[in-house]
Amino acid sequence: MPHPLKIIGISGSLRKTSYNTALLKAAAALMPTGIEFEIAEIGEIPLYNGDLELNHFPESVQILREKIRASNGLLIATPEYNYSMSGVLKNTIDWLSRPSTDPVLFDKPLAIIGASMGMMGSARAQYHLRQSAVFLNMHVLNKPELFVNAVHTKFNEQLELTDLPTQDVLKQVLESFQKWIKQLEGK
Ligand SMILES: Cc1cc2nc3c(=O)[nH]c(=O)nc-3n(C[C@H](O)[C@H](O)[C@H](O)COP(=O)(O)O)c2cc1C
Repeated sequence: MPHPLKIIGISGSLRKTSYNTALLKAAAALMPTGIEFEIAEIGEIPLYNGDLELNHFPESVQILREKIRASNGLLIATPEYNYSMSGVLKNTIDWLSRPSTDPVLFDKPLAIIGASMGMMGSARAQYHLRQSAVFLNMHVLNKPELFVNAVHTKFNEQLELTDLPTQDVLKQVLESFQKWIKQLEGK
């Protein structure tokens, strides 16, 4: 049996009832066989301050760095705040881009999904995140894209994804991401 691929999920929203976190939980339930999936915590990551990285990283950052280093790829679910990604997500990316000589995100496969209440379904936030990922030389899955618009109509009160077309595209994203990682790893 080949080793399962390890994928780390990050939600760009800290709300307990976040739809983006719920989208990652829906992804966990639809994950293809051969993938181990874990949603990482980013709520304790401090605001980026260059002074804090002079000797060693804050513990929450170090824990996340190690998880990502040991993973085969990242799945990020981003909300859209003011036409961009949330501050907490950008702050996390900024930490993970350090030190510039050994950024843990360098060369990592990345799949981006996202949900918002508006009609664009976090598309503008996703493209900003994609732009940062280019700078970090991450290998972003191009297609399929998943923009969950009017998200409040697609999850029930228990935060379960009830919209079947969205489930279908999410499943396709996960399967394509698995293939993409294997292709990049030469498997
Ligand atoms: C500060 C702020 C800015 C927002 N800006 C946008 C926006 O630009 N586009 C949009 O579709 N929704 C916007 N929203 C609504 C979010 O899509 C909605 O709150 C969504 O549920 C956030 O994701 P979450 O449920 O994962 O927290 C904004 C919400 C907040 C709090």
